[in-house]
Parts: sequence; C-alpha cells; structure tokens
Amino acid sequence: MRIAKRVEGLPPYLFAELDKRVAAKRAEGADVISLGVGDPDLPTPPHIVEALREAALDPSTHRYPSYYGMPELRRAIADYYDRRFGVTLDPETEVLPLIGSKEGIAHLATAFVDPGDRALVADPGYPVYGIGTILAGGEPVSLPLTAEHRFLPDFDAVDVPPSTKLLWIGYPSNPTAAVAEADTLERTVRFGADHDLLVCHDAAYAEITFDGYVAPSILQIPGAKHVAVEFGSLSKTYNMTGWRIGYVVGNAEAIRMLGVVKTNIDSGIFDAVQRAGIAALTGPQDHVEQMRAIYQKRRDLIVSALAEAGIDLEPPLGSIYVWVPAPAGRTSVDFAAELLDEAAVVVAPGTGYGPHGEGYIRISLSVPDDRLQEAATRLRERLR
Ligand code: MLT
Repeated sequence: MRIAKRVEGLPPYLFAELDKRVAAKRAEGADVISLGVGDPDLPTPPHIVEALREAALDPSTHRYPSYYGMPELRRAIADYYDRRFGVTLDPETEVLPLIGSKEGIAHLATAFVDPGDRALVADPGYPVYGIGTILAGGEPVSLPLTAEHRFLPDFDAVDVPPSTKLLWIGYPSNPTAAVAEADTLERTVRFGADHDLLVCHDAAYAEITFDGYVAPSILQIPGAKHVAVEFGSLSKTYNMTGWRIGYVVGNAEAIRMLGVVKTNIDSGIFDAVQRAGIAALTGPQDHVEQMRAIYQKRRDLIVSALAEAGIDLEPPLGSIYVWVPAPAGRTSVDFAAELLDEAAVVVAPGTGYGPHGEGYIRISLSVPDDRLQEAATRLRERLR
C-alpha cells in the first residue's frame, strides 16, 4: 500500500490531536477542562430541534436531497443577507448550501487550485484554508497577521508569488478574535482585484460580537461580488455544530465551480437538516442575543483572570475565542503542554493556526460557566 504524498505530509488535524491528549489525561484520572475546540456547550434552540423532528418524520426527506440545496433554504440565506447586510443575492446562482462551512472551505481549492498553484492564507488562520490547498496539490503561502497590525492584513507588505489564485481571510477571526471594519474588507477586495485572486472570506462568527460591535459582510463592499465569496455557518450562531450546515455566497462563477466539485463528491445536506436550517434563519432570533450576552460574560471572566495573572488584553469584540500571548520565553506548544500538565486545562497552541501563531495560545469560551470559572481559577493560580 502506498499513501499519497499530499496526505502523508499532512499534519494531524489540530482538534483530533487535542482530543487524543484530553483522553490520555482523563485516563490518568485528571479533571480536565477543555478550552480547546470551539464547540458551543449551549443547546440548539428548541424550535429548530422541533423543525428537524417534524421533518425527519416526513418520509419525503428520506431520499437524496437536491444537490444544490432546497430552494427555500437558498431563499432563507438570501433573505438573511438582505435583512442583515442590505446585500441582494440571487438564490439560484449566488447561494450554495454546504455540509458545514468547513466542507466548502476545504473543497473550494479543488475547483481553483492546480498542482503547483498557491493560495495566500491568513496566518494565523483556520487550518482548513491551507489544508484544502494542500489536498488540491497546491501550496499555502502565509499572509502574516500580527499584533502590530491588530491581526489585520498589511497588504503593503505582501508579495504575491506567481500562480497564486486564492486569498483566505476571516473576521471575526478564528483564532485571533480580531474584528475587521469595512475599510479592511475594502482593501482586501481591491487587493484581490489587483492580483486576480478569488477572495474567500470566512464569516462563521459574524453574529457573535460584543460591546455593540456589528460585523460587516465583505459583500457590502462595492464590486465585491466580482472577486469574492463569503462562507457562513449555522454552527456557532445557532449552536448547530453537530448538524453540519453552512453556506457560501457571492461570486456566481466561483459558486458554480464549487457546485461542480460538490455534485461529484457529495449528495447534499439531509433535507430534514435543511428544513431545520430554514427554521433557524427565518424563526425567532432572541436566543442569538442571549448567547452573545453569555459569551461576553465568559470573555470578561477570562480577560479579568488573565489580567490578575499579569496578562493584559483588550477584550475581543467577536468570536468565541480569546487569543493569549504566552509568557516570555515559552513557545505556544510548551505553554499549552504546561497548562495541560499542571492545571489540567486544554488550550489550542497558536502554531496550530500557522507559524505566526507562535507565542500565543487560543482559549475557547464554549464550556459551561461553572467549568470556565474553574478553568479561570486554575489559570490564574498557574500563571501568578
Ligand atoms: C474551532 O475550534 O476552531 C472550530 O470549532 C473548528 C471548526 O469550526 O471546525
């Protein structure tokens, strides 16, 4: 048996690896608190679960779904863009439901990247931007995001190597929790147009924002549809990580080509899950507001525990993460290992998100309040 080089060379998926470490530590009897993966602990709102229950009882949902998603779901996504961002989308050509945004992010490269091609990827950034590129035979090229530039791209300092076809960014950012204003997205669109790149904006955390900050869509930028697509997810907004439902919107040609890839390798989202997705997008939204308040309180808890331990951070305005500098002299992997060994707290090492994640760890706020409180106490004691 000979394994393909592109898979042989692939690092283990960060969270699969963290799961293994948690299991090993728990097997030693430790009371481990995992602030690793961003996986909401809060339940999916009941009206969405009820929509799934009803749909699952309807045998018409048991057959193959439509390849391009139910028209009603595509319409619900387009209506959300209209309501929330004032962006008009053609549900037929500019909206494509995905089996979770991760799936579409990974597969987009198959449609655009030939062996030897390149993609500029946010560094640090969601690991799948680069992994999709590698699986397509291409090479991810780092787009450095540094504290000096508030983890926003400094396009004046970026050299675009030959054969670069894609540019991946995402705000509110996973993992840095940085947010972007319209001017950053405007510069990104201009840069994409100047260099003939498809700009891919990951907006999975667009609804999880704090202190009155409201995240923009890249599609609000004039001309964006010529060069950009935006990925969205129901996972974090509606606590639906396990359901696998997301979407991509924007440039019609890019969406058409991703559709070509997908129709050849998957058969769409279970219709009952699509109907639940429609209920999520069109139903009451009050729980989203409640969830923002919960995450904001958790963010404050972690930020003040870190401040008491001498690590001062500006409270992040979005996402479900806090991006924390490691104490001087510790690598991100060492620091994460130390917190696991000595405090039984799991965090994600920054280098899991790219070389520029060195010197940081990521804390996820997606654990119940009492466990987060306990983790904050352990972190404070450990770091003092
Ligand atoms: C994360 O922890 O970065 C996310 O939950 C992973 C994902 O969305 O796939």
